[in-house]
Amino acid sequence: MDRRAVIPVLSVTSELAPLVKTGGLADVAGALPGALVEHGVDMRTLVPGYPAVMAALETPTTCAKLPDCFGGTARVLAARAGGLDLLVLDAPHHYARGAGIYLSAAGRDWPDNPERFAALSWVASEIANGLIADWRPALLHAHDWQGGLAPYYLSCSEAAGRVRSVLTIHNIAFQGLAPPRKLAALKIDPADFTPEGLEYWGQISALKAGLVHANRLTTVSPSYAEELLTPEFGMGLEGVLMERRAELSGILNGIDMEVWSPATDPNITNYTAPKGKAPNKAALRSELGLPEAEGPLCVVISRLTAQKGLDLLLEALPILLERGGQLALLGSGDNALEAAFQSAAGHPHVAVRIGYDELLAHRMIAGGDAILVPSRFEPCGLTQLYGLRYGTLPLVALTGGLADTVIPASPATLADKVVATGLQFHPVTALALSNALARLCALYQQPKLWRKISSNAMAHPVGWRQSAAAYAQLYTGLLDRNT
Ligand code: ADP
Ligand code: GLC
Repeated sequence: MDRRAVIPVLSVTSELAPLVKTGGLADVAGALPGALVEHGVDMRTLVPGYPAVMAALETPTTCAKLPDCFGGTARVLAARAGGLDLLVLDAPHHYARGAGIYLSAAGRDWPDNPERFAALSWVASEIANGLIADWRPALLHAHDWQGGLAPYYLSCSEAAGRVRSVLTIHNIAFQGLAPPRKLAALKIDPADFTPEGLEYWGQISALKAGLVHANRLTTVSPSYAEELLTPEFGMGLEGVLMERRAELSGILNGIDMEVWSPATDPNITNYTAPKGKAPNKAALRSELGLPEAEGPLCVVISRLTAQKGLDLLLEALPILLERGGQLALLGSGDNALEAAFQSAAGHPHVAVRIGYDELLAHRMIAGGDAILVPSRFEPCGLTQLYGLRYGTLPLVALTGGLADTVIPASPATLADKVVATGLQFHPVTALALSNALARLCALYQQPKLWRKISSNAMAHPVGWRQSAAAYAQLYTGLLDRNT
């Protein structure tokens, strides 16, 4: 294959920043197309036509009509939005609803989620098979369980072998399960409903369909790629992944260096060195009603779920407060965690905002001294990367992408002049977190050392440069093999 030729790639995703986001998947799917341009990749993104997506489309044109798309009529629209080239699956029976993209107003999964994302995956495969007259991908790049059936449908189609596929696992905790009575509705051949195929303990698993059928598998950090092969982290799919370990690799996420830039961020008082944080910290304290304090102002920006280990932070919080530290948390999710943090906010040195607020997230990253990410597992994690870029020291659990992105300050690394960028703790328990918070507070009392680590953090590369090259190499490798 001519390496200079443009490689057409269809990315298949259920969320996409800046249009629709519940977590880091949106950021990654939104950033990759731009990062891949210089590598000769023409990436277009297939997304569901949720109301927020439909409202953002610039001059959409209809490029395909589907009279029966999993129970209703649909169209594929081509359009630009949010600086991206999109193909939008406009299927009102699936996507034209209020509340969340995955959850109803009552906070439960939409009961037809299997059909909603099977439709997306099926249309991806149809596009690979020539549904759209003037553009056909050489490769499908599907994300998570919502895109998991795309490699499967592709493997059953005429384009099998000609169009290659990659599946990226952002989080193996979500597996896209559906009862077997949905086999026909999901256009799955019952002969494929086997343990070697896409059956998972008596259920259909859209994620497993992708794990079995994609030509290559990636996840979002090298450490998580290894962890996924173990019972502790593989969530029942470690056996499937072991079978495919030769095709599995970890490619670290980056962040958008323009959106997250302390020197130019329009939401803050700009700075290029750690001491420039001071006005942002003062502004954040005043915004959140926090008084001055002796210790570090620690921030958390997170979904409130068991994954993120924030119940451990509730247990360890007294240590931080006893040592003069403060906590500011922005998040939403699990009702019990929301309530527990709201009640913790009764303390004068704890501020909690329940909800989702991108701009406040910027002000918190800029104004905080440290960012806490005590996750039980973390495929990559983005907020510790924002922390690094803004000189906000990450204190993270030693797991997944957190282990791969933060260089821990320990007596050994400091004595060795290793360029530390934050703190890590292990095992992921309240006790180890408490000890790490105590170390953080002690480090804060050594301002020279703190500023040095903070400068190291700001200099640490967190953009997409290396990882975009790794994805491009993966694509070209797959396509070379195809010719
Ligand atoms: P995950 O995808 O598991 O939620 P990541 O760290 O990869 O974790 O990505 C989370 C993304 O969502 C980050 O961009 C983070 O800033 C953002 N985020 C999470 N919760 C909130 C919130 N309550 N308000 C604003 N942004 C949030
Ligand atoms: C997932 C993971 C997170 C990762 C994000 C983007 O939601 O939980 O660790 O950063 O996907 O890949």
